[in-house]
Amino acid sequence: MAFVLNGKTQAIPADWAGETLLFLLRDHFGLVGAKYGCGVGVCGACTVIVDGVATRSCITPAESIEGSEVRSVEGLATDGVLHPVQQAWLDLAVPQCGYCQPGQIMSAVALLNEFSSPSDADIDAAMDGNLCRCGTYGRIRAAIQRAVE
Ligand code: FES
Repeated sequence: MAFVLNGKTQAIPADWAGETLLFLLRDHFGLVGAKYGCGVGVCGACTVIVDGVATRSCITPAESIEGSEVRSVEGLATDGVLHPVQQAWLDLAVPQCGYCQPGQIMSAVALLNEFSSPSDADIDAAMDGNLCRCGTYGRIRAAIQRAVE
């Protein structure tokens, strides 16, 4: 079993079947950007992009990603240049505690892959499943709008 992780083909070890994509990323590949929050697909802290779609990795079986393309927050920057969403996050100092922010960023990137110029309603709908206990929602919306400028 293999998949593409941040542009590089990787094997899914047979003994990881039955585990989740979140822990495959964190514990096997050492990519700890995606976080464990609720573990049941409702908080968004574990969001990565699978075949272009924002995906809750905590409820995605590792074996189900065979043949898929997975992008985690660690794979967004290219040649040392931040993705426009990451740069906007930095420019507007979006994070507070930061725990949910990799998932927020990945949902924002997936949104912008679908809508090049999203309305506030598009942003609110796309980001609805990403919770932030610090309440950074206003800055998140502003950063998404900045990323498309
Ligand atoms: Fe996956 Fe909350 S940890 S949605």
